[in-house]
Amino acid sequence: MASGTFAESGADLELVGIKKRFPGFTAIEHLDLTIPAGSFFALLGPSGCGKTTTLRLVAGLEDPTEGSILIGGKDVTHLKPFQRQVNTVFQSYALFPHMTVLDNVAFGLRRRKIEDPVAKAHEALVLVELDHLAARKPQQLSGGQQQRVALARAIVNRPALLLLDEPLGALDLKLRRQMQLELKSIQEEVGLTFVHVTHDQEEAMTMADTVAVMNKGEIEQLGAPQDLYELPRTAFVANFLGQSNLFTGHVASTTSNSITVDVEGAKITVPTKRAQRHKGEVTVGIRPEKLHLHKDEPKKAAGINSIGPGRIIDVSFSGVSTQYTVAVPGLDNLTVFQQNTTFGPIAEEGSEVWASWDVDHGFGLEDDPGAAPRFPADTDTATIAVQKRRALKSELEEA
Ligand SMILES: Nc1ncnc2c1ncn2[C@@H]1O[C@H](COP(=O)(O)OP(=O)(O)OP(=O)(O)O)[C@@H](O)[C@H]1O
Ligand SMILES: [Mg+2]
Repeated sequence: MASGTFAESGADLELVGIKKRFPGFTAIEHLDLTIPAGSFFALLGPSGCGKTTTLRLVAGLEDPTEGSILIGGKDVTHLKPFQRQVNTVFQSYALFPHMTVLDNVAFGLRRRKIEDPVAKAHEALVLVELDHLAARKPQQLSGGQQQRVALARAIVNRPALLLLDEPLGALDLKLRRQMQLELKSIQEEVGLTFVHVTHDQEEAMTMADTVAVMNKGEIEQLGAPQDLYELPRTAFVANFLGQSNLFTGHVASTTSNSITVDVEGAKITVPTKRAQRHKGEVTVGIRPEKLHLHKDEPKKAAGINSIGPGRIIDVSFSGVSTQYTVAVPGLDNLTVFQQNTTFGPIAEEGSEVWASWDVDHGFGLEDDPGAAPRFPADTDTATIAVQKRRALKSELEEA
């Protein structure tokens, strides 16, 4: 923005062969990423996977060890932060306490001697629905309102690229959901390129048109939220983005359009086109909400997988749905979500059940179950839970 002009619209962002090594620690091993202009892109991953580092590289606050960064086709790798058409909203959005909301938003415009700072600041405040509070000081606002001021302060510069690092971290769940929808409509309205960092999978899926799932400095999978959710390619994605039931076994038979895996005697069929590996030892999966519970053994039918009998070892009610944990001899415990369309659970703890699902809903992973994991315990849900707890804790401390 050194030229003092406003970007008309968003710009493409390209990261080419990025490596970032800190003294004694490699945060990003190799990152290639293209984010098209005007998109709402979410970088999703557990604590410490390199999300903030990636944003800092784009903003010019860190230098890559290797690789280059292009904004709107222009190589900005060696430009200073203020020479890049980038604005960042950090989680700790420091507003100037002695200035009014309006002056906070107009500050950057004034410093860069942009025409009409007051009118432009009002325009940005209208966008975040805070113009009526323009004369207040930050401490007279709620946390969510302050966060919106921080957003207005970034948007007013019309950066080609807006980087958001967990900008909703300090908000309560309800306000967070509301702000997610608002941010999304603001992005649609202004047409800028947004790169949003979060470790909240629901937030990433609600807001972004493209989600990249990051793990230990690498992108595991990138795509539209629905595609990532319905067809995860790795165990990490299958478990970080929602929950999955995973089964590992040998491919016992194949037809022209399906593979059938033998998992401790249970036969599980997956469409060939939804499986990344078609022979040998493979891992297949099914989402918990795609499973149906039965009190009697379901009749064998083409197009249906069924497993059982198992025993319900846990029933937990969560309002919209009930989560059942089913222990099946020889297999890992199954997780089943059932919508609460009637009152009360459909089966009690201790009862014997079968689970079935539509073959078309399963997926097969590209992970080689025989290979040593790239990172030990990566796909272990306990590890993910610990990371989430840590992230929450640091969020609380920062707030
Ligand atoms: N200046 C630094 N020196 C050494 N290591 C660093 C430095 N900054 C970050 N790291 C390490 O790089 C890794 C990635 O850090 P980063 O801040 O990008 O994580 P993150 O994905 O943003 O995590 P969170 O969700 O907790 O914010 C971490 O393991 C971190 O400890
Ligand atoms: Mg971070």
